[in-house]
Amino acid sequence: MIIGITSDHRGFEIKKELIKELKNKNIEIKDNGCFTPGSCDYSLYGISLAEEVAKKNITYGIAICGTGIGMSIACNKVKGIRAGLCSESFSAKMTRKHNNANVLCLGARVTGIELAKDIVKTFIEEDFEGGRHQKRIDMLEEK
Ligand code: RB5
Repeated sequence: MIIGITSDHRGFEIKKELIKELKNKNIEIKDNGCFTPGSCDYSLYGISLAEEVAKKNITYGIAICGTGIGMSIACNKVKGIRAGLCSESFSAKMTRKHNNANVLCLGARVTGIELAKDIVKTFIEEDFEGGRHQKRIDMLEEK
C-alpha cells in the first residue's frame, strides 16, 4: 500500500504529523506537497494528488486543507476519484465500505490531530463491501 498525502498551508502541520504516524507504521508515503507553510492553493495540490490516485500510482490519497471542503471539491473533479470528507471515524469507515472512497479529505481547522490519526487508520484499514454499492458507483463513473 502506498499513501499519497497533500495539503495546502492550512493543513501543512497536520500533514507532517500524519506522515510521521504512517511512517512509524511502516506504510509507504508519497508526500505531494505543499513543502513550506506559506500560502498556496488547495485546488492545484488536490487535483495533482487525485491524478496520482486515478493513475494508480498510489493506493489512497489524503488531502488536507482548512475545512477539507476545498480539497474534496478539487479531488472529486478528477475522473475515477471518490473523495470523502470526514471529520469523525464512523464516516471514514462508511466511505470505504459503501463509497469505495479512494481519497480521504480532512479539515485541519475542524479535526484535531489525534482524531485525524484515528480517521486515517480507520480509512486505510476498512474494505469496500461491493455488491449493491458497486452498482451505484458505476452509475457515477458513467457520467
Ligand atoms: C485557505 O485559506 C482555505 O480557504 C483552505 O484551506 C480551505 O479551507 C478551503 O476549502
